[in-house]
Amino acid sequence: EKAGYASFMLKEIAEQPKAVADTLLGRIDGSGALSLDEVRIPPQVLREVDKVVVVACGTAYHAGLIAKYAIEHWTRIPCEVELASEFRYRDPILDQQTLVVAISQSGETMDTLMALRHAREQGARVLAICNTNGSTIPRESDAVLYTHAGPEVAVASTKAFLTQLVACYLVALYLGQVRGTKYGDEIGDVVRDLSGISGAVEQVLGTMDPVRELARSLAHKKTVLFLGRHVGHPVALEGALKLKELAYMHAEGFAAGELKHGPIALIEEDLPVVVVVPSPRGRSILHDKIVSNIQEIRARGARTIVIAEEGDEAVVPYADHLVRIPATPTLLQPLVATVPLQVFACELATARGNEVDQPRNLAKSVTVE
Ligand code: M6R
Repeated sequence: EKAGYASFMLKEIAEQPKAVADTLLGRIDGSGALSLDEVRIPPQVLREVDKVVVVACGTAYHAGLIAKYAIEHWTRIPCEVELASEFRYRDPILDQQTLVVAISQSGETMDTLMALRHAREQGARVLAICNTNGSTIPRESDAVLYTHAGPEVAVASTKAFLTQLVACYLVALYLGQVRGTKYGDEIGDVVRDLSGISGAVEQVLGTMDPVRELARSLAHKKTVLFLGRHVGHPVALEGALKLKELAYMHAEGFAAGELKHGPIALIEEDLPVVVVVPSPRGRSILHDKIVSNIQEIRARGARTIVIAEEGDEAVVPYADHLVRIPATPTLLQPLVATVPLQVFACELATARGNEVDQPRNLAKSVTVE
């Protein structure tokens, strides 16, 4: 039941710190190493993997896009991410050394199921990341890593997404651990950071009143754009998807570097543009580039809504609205940066009088191709 919340979606957004913590539970041992014995693919087989292919749909696909950054960085194994509905129709190159990761909250999405069947027919191993015990996708996979988000009722995925990200990070780090890469030390640090991430999500949830107020003030708008770089790009895509499905508004996510290749022509006076800013620490080149992107769109009249780490002062002069998120390592930032976008879409949809748990034309689980 809704436990006092106005919608399941609000309840599920609020449950995210617990969902994240539950998904980590028992998967990191006392020494800070990952123990994923439940993934019953022998370490020897994982050491021989020469390609990872992630297949998923919708929000789960966005988790996959983020997984690619993590997998390639920590394991140095090439990783492709593909919409499950496209995958098998292009005759993909797969063999026994390919690890296919199928991500699905419901475990019943037909496009994803057909993609994994195709992969297994070609001899690939399939690891499912799934939230529903005993559903079809994990049943038909070689191994499964369950997300422990608990039942997700609202059609728009929120807590399942955050836990899919956690599971993807765990898989990436585990592959790195099993294979031993030059990032061995970094892996230990990230595991520690991951252990504290549930608290960071909680912290974001506690600061969402201005985001709600902003969302209500934009309820009359026709379009909202979302920009990001690196892992912030899939976050931008996810923010746009949430707004489309809940608020029935035109929303698009772009890689900020692509702006000048076309989308900048869309910028006009007072157009709301949400920008996800990477940490100024770490890969600061990414940060500097996005600050120039914010300047470019603001100079053309955009109303900038900037999501940036605490202490990032460089963005302040160019932010019409500033949403602060806690500092995290670059690759983990989607876990905190997505939350304001969920709250934004939910509130904006409510202000427009939409039914947030059951958006029009959508089903929770899409069991037809
Ligand atoms: O159950 P699945 O994770 O396989 O579902 C995939 C998509 O249908 C799902 O994420 C959809 O995009 C959500 N409505 C997004 O909020």
